Amino acid sequence: MNSPTANAALTFPPTFKFGVATAAYQVEGAWDEDGKGENIWDHLLHKNPEFTEDRANGDIANDSYHRYKEDVQLVKALNVDFYRFSIAWSRILPKGDLSVVNQKGLDYYNNLIDEVVANGIEPMVTIYHWDLPQELQKLGGWTNRETALYFRDYAELLFTSFGDRVKWWITFNDPQVISSGYSGDKMAPNVEKPGVGDYLCGHTVLLAHSQAFHLYDSTFRATQKGQVGIVFGGSWAIPKTDSPDDIAAAERYMQFYLGWFAHPIFSQEGDYPHVMRERVAANSAREGLRRSRLPQFSREEIELLRGSSDFLGLNHYTSFHVEADETGPCPSLGRDSGAVLSQDPSWPGSGSSWLKVVPWGFRNVLSWIHEQYNGPNIIITENGFSDRDGRIDDMERISYYKSYIQELLKAIHKDGVKVTGYSAWSLMDNLEWASGYREKFGLYQVDYNNPNRTRTPKKSSKFFAEIARTHKLPS
Ligand code: NOJ
Repeated sequence: MNSPTANAALTFPPTFKFGVATAAYQVEGAWDEDGKGENIWDHLLHKNPEFTEDRANGDIANDSYHRYKEDVQLVKALNVDFYRFSIAWSRILPKGDLSVVNQKGLDYYNNLIDEVVANGIEPMVTIYHWDLPQELQKLGGWTNRETALYFRDYAELLFTSFGDRVKWWITFNDPQVISSGYSGDKMAPNVEKPGVGDYLCGHTVLLAHSQAFHLYDSTFRATQKGQVGIVFGGSWAIPKTDSPDDIAAAERYMQFYLGWFAHPIFSQEGDYPHVMRERVAANSAREGLRRSRLPQFSREEIELLRGSSDFLGLNHYTSFHVEADETGPCPSLGRDSGAVLSQDPSWPGSGSSWLKVVPWGFRNVLSWIHEQYNGPNIIITENGFSDRDGRIDDMERISYYKSYIQELLKAIHKDGVKVTGYSAWSLMDNLEWASGYREKFGLYQVDYNNPNRTRTPKKSSKFFAEIARTHKLPS
């Protein structure tokens, strides 16, 4: 195994960037401090504490609002090039719109960004990681198209305030999950309107993305010279059997989940995937509706979306078996897709019911993206493993990273997929949304019984720090 070719296969290109990620609501705490407004997660979890497994919420979380300097030192110890974190919209704009600009919120992020940069780390900022200001939810949230304009105003304020130091922007983290907040799928704002609300939300999010991208392009790019991208969740779909129906269903699943958001931006022809438009329109007609439940873009909107991203961010964790069947509530995206998901009992599990360890699915989904969208620049914005006890001696996490990173290297070296960066999820254990603090993804353990929220390095942090330092997977 020590031949030069074997070594090359385990080595990342010198320009390849490593990073580590968090998101505001999952780590910051200080939910109403210094003028921060309420967001949809604050609202939901205060009103319905039973929404999370352990009745937990993000009021204090990892207290990163007060401990960000310590966090930056943890990031630094990982030898990574960038730190991916998100900005809490309602910390800066408590009412969601520009009527109140909270200087203390701007100060917090200025301090965090300065601290990151002073430690030789590049900030990668997610503008929206699921925490809409509640004031905008009162207007319908993402089902209201005007929210795209509020998002544009918010993004402009961020570009203006932080763009001198931030060169990596992500408009949205995982729009599929944002949309599931409108189909009653255990995400805020927990609006139950499957097959309608989720499509409306996705539509507004796409329009908001293209607005922010073009704003940056026309007004900020020349002076700030940064990159603006978007992040998708992308699981791999494996036909459950080799029947033509299941093969077609697996491809449909890819189009209905990843393609839903990637096709309008990264495909040659633009717009939603054809199969999606066709099936939702047919089902809508069958239901007696005058129009498709999937909203339509104007010609101009299609053109504004096409190519509106400098890179494709991918969050990848797991794979699914897919079989052709129409189940689920009527209407719903699941039924529209005609794809039913399951997982193979032989796949090793994790602390999350949905997360099974299928390393080769990673390589396949990367190839699929490469082929579908003509070889875009890809950054892996999340990949990681959960357990339920947050143990320091986290050998399963190490083996997960090892096997997934190995597949990533095959995608780069053998399949020619253009992946330029990789970020682990997550820097530290944090609030895993509706699963509360029970599912732990951190490279550092966080002690929630200690008011200092003590962070302790797990073994995986050393493992990852070595990869980032050497640009090499240990053989
Ligand atoms: C995707 C999300 O972006 C992140 O917030 C979440 O914690 C991880 N996946 C793990 O589920």
